[in-house]
Amino acid sequence: MRRSAPMLLLAAFALFAAACQKKSQPTSSGEGAQGGQATQPAAAGGGSSDTILLGEVGSLTGAQATFGVSTRNGVDLAIKEANAAGGVKGKKLAVRVYDDQSKPEEAAQATTRLVTQDKVVVILGEVASSNSLAMAEKAQSAGVPMITPASTNPTVTQKGDYIFRVCFIDPFQGYVMAKFARENLKANDVAILQDNKSAYSFGLTDVFKVEFPKMGGKITTIESYSQGDTDFRAQLTAIKKTKPQAIYVPGYYNDVGIIARQARELGLTVPLMGGDGWDSEKLFELAGNTLDGSYFSNHYSPDNPDPKVQKFIADYKAAYGSVPDALAALGYDAAKVAIAAIERAKDLSGPALRDAIAQTKDFPGVAGTITLDKDRNAVKSAAVLKIGDGKAQFVTTITP
Ligand code: PHE
Repeated sequence: MRRSAPMLLLAAFALFAAACQKKSQPTSSGEGAQGGQATQPAAAGGGSSDTILLGEVGSLTGAQATFGVSTRNGVDLAIKEANAAGGVKGKKLAVRVYDDQSKPEEAAQATTRLVTQDKVVVILGEVASSNSLAMAEKAQSAGVPMITPASTNPTVTQKGDYIFRVCFIDPFQGYVMAKFARENLKANDVAILQDNKSAYSFGLTDVFKVEFPKMGGKITTIESYSQGDTDFRAQLTAIKKTKPQAIYVPGYYNDVGIIARQARELGLTVPLMGGDGWDSEKLFELAGNTLDGSYFSNHYSPDNPDPKVQKFIADYKAAYGSVPDALAALGYDAAKVAIAAIERAKDLSGPALRDAIAQTKDFPGVAGTITLDKDRNAVKSAAVLKIGDGKAQFVTTITP
């Protein structure tokens, strides 16, 4: 069977259009509601004469979908609040959102679309560090500022002077759990189970395996899996033989939930420890009660009595019907940092916005006060949470 070239071209275009349709989501102010096409002609500097357009890339579907959905809600809330208060520079704010299906290649493509086609002024995203790394390449070379709410791998902001984050970085997060294991759990021997497909996971492993021995502990073994695996029994059996007192599992909730179950089935009863990647309601659905007595580090705890945090939680619950997780809080903070920078910038050009974001200082976020350092990272404390009765409870704060 032979098809003519125009037919093939048409088919390719239809496929592309369908893909765009699927990926672009309706947003707070209606931007993007018509699929991948910009609903307003993009003027120079992003948006139209009465709208400033921001971009967002997130994992709204796929393996880590709760990350993208929570972030989306947090950003949405911040934008709605700003618009209700009259907007910025006399204009309303809108967000063009793309779903990257939890995949780095898709995140990169969406970023290219945001800078070339939608001409957004600032990009928010991603959560998983591997996805943010793919985005950062594109944003940096286009000279469009990008703020990742939650990616903690140190190399993300090293991609260049247009890339920022409003969270702490993994050299700190890994140190926090090493210290917690040593001082609070009094563990001498800890095994590590890492995801070798995730920049986040092997980054945390690299830190933990250096910091924990420095504090006098011993790493009994380092085993690896690949994101999306479903059988971890071989690695867990190897770990069990080394008789650790705790196991560090710096992965994402979708894998960790299954790992926890299989560990208990194999008679491994010691606490598991993890990082922010555990933060999802879905973790408890997958793990049942098998993570009771385990610990992880995170950016925020809804138990924080600070009135600003409690107001955010109440507003979020009213709008989205659930208690915000760390991603929601960080998404909200990232959007607010972007909004404040847009307000202060002398114009909406890339360099002006980059400089304005870089000046962020003592910004009162709901996931901690944000001051960006010279490497465009926020320096903040971390919370350690303990899992019990199917939820995470605040244990302690560790400051840098
Ligand atoms: N820090 C994780 C990463 O860089 C992402 C994450 C942040 C996940 C906060 C959950 C909560 O990949």
